[in-house]
Amino acid sequence: MKTLKLGIAGLGHVGCGLVDLVQRQDSLRLPGKVEIAGITARNRSRNRPVNVEDYKWFDDAARLAADDSVNVFVELIGGSDGPAKVAVETALKSGKAVITANKALIAMHGQELAELAREQGVDLLFEAAVAGGVPVVRVLRDSLAGVDVRRVTGILNGTCNFLTTEMLATRRTYESVLAEAQRLGYAESDPTLDVSGMDAAHKAAILAAIAFSADLDFSKVSVRGVEGVELLDLDLADRLGLRIKLIAEGKITSDGVVCRVEPYALPVNHPLARVNGSLNTIRIEGDPLGAVTLTGPGAGPGPTASAVMGDVAKLFNPIARPAFGRADHHDVRKFVMAEPDEKSAYFVRVRLRDRAGSLAELTEALADAGVSVDKLLQDSADDDGAAPIAIVTHICSRREIGIARERLESLESNIGTPQIMAIEASAD
Ligand code: HSE
Repeated sequence: MKTLKLGIAGLGHVGCGLVDLVQRQDSLRLPGKVEIAGITARNRSRNRPVNVEDYKWFDDAARLAADDSVNVFVELIGGSDGPAKVAVETALKSGKAVITANKALIAMHGQELAELAREQGVDLLFEAAVAGGVPVVRVLRDSLAGVDVRRVTGILNGTCNFLTTEMLATRRTYESVLAEAQRLGYAESDPTLDVSGMDAAHKAAILAAIAFSADLDFSKVSVRGVEGVELLDLDLADRLGLRIKLIAEGKITSDGVVCRVEPYALPVNHPLARVNGSLNTIRIEGDPLGAVTLTGPGAGPGPTASAVMGDVAKLFNPIARPAFGRADHHDVRKFVMAEPDEKSAYFVRVRLRDRAGSLAELTEALADAGVSVDKLLQDSADDDGAAPIAIVTHICSRREIGIARERLESLESNIGTPQIMAIEASAD
């Protein structure tokens, strides 16, 4: 029976989760035996939930990657550059298969690493980099290879989805719910990566590159996070039949691949609107499939370690596939910036000074930008004399709503930063 010998770099939550799975592999469905040939981490003496004393210790990840005893290098260090990248390159150059959970590394350097893996004829696998335990990477790359994918949408950050769900459900502040997400281990060690939308953007770019056979170009991905979203926004949207969520989208246009992450307002009956808490979900639409949706735990050590182990299981089959699934002869598409003519309805929330004429100024500013009001909701002013107003617009373009945003920000009666989000059309 074939034996795979892992070199595991990084013994945080996911690394320890993987060691645990290796130790109880007899209860899993692996097609062969897995051994741990060596380990490395930042701190050797730290208390860990698994016993790692019997494994050979390496002080340096690249040394581990190059060691003859290792035939599969597992990178769980994190970070787009630095030791993670050096070690992965070392492993690939030594002709070893690499498994990584590092979405930043794949989003920023996946293209060149995939090329290196192709030259060496080895696998570069990263199921755990996108949506934790949800098996989307190889489903998209392999199982759906017969589908002409047109659009991929999803909720790809558990922390942000937990934030927007829990703030509304428990009427707590952003800060208090984020602290809970950190306690529960959903958030990255630097939660700015989550709330800024960057973590979801890394994952969205990886999915878009696979789905559309595109050269991954992260500089063209537009990213906006949930930092500005308040309980007030969630509440007013709810009263207008909308749920605010951080949505990732990749789609094919006549110019190329558009990839973006931003908060959207979804009609409450939209399938993505019903995905709550730290769950992730990905909806893949294409021809002749129609649509398929995958939902599950997108964060946390157990689910993410299980995705790494799924990649280990794949390596018992020695046929290396291109990392992004694309053969050399395939037409390569390009990532492009979103076009400003793209149309949608919008959710707009402002706070205006409670005085005669404020509402008229607001509607005039919108009208000047070519934006027409469909629904409007105003509450009484708070103690500071600021009246919250929420609007659902008729369909308009990104260019028009951009002009509206500038006008609203400069209104004399405006207080604070207006919130503006595209409203996703109801799904079939
Ligand atoms: N911090 C991520 C999230 C999990 O909240 O979804 C790992 O990608």
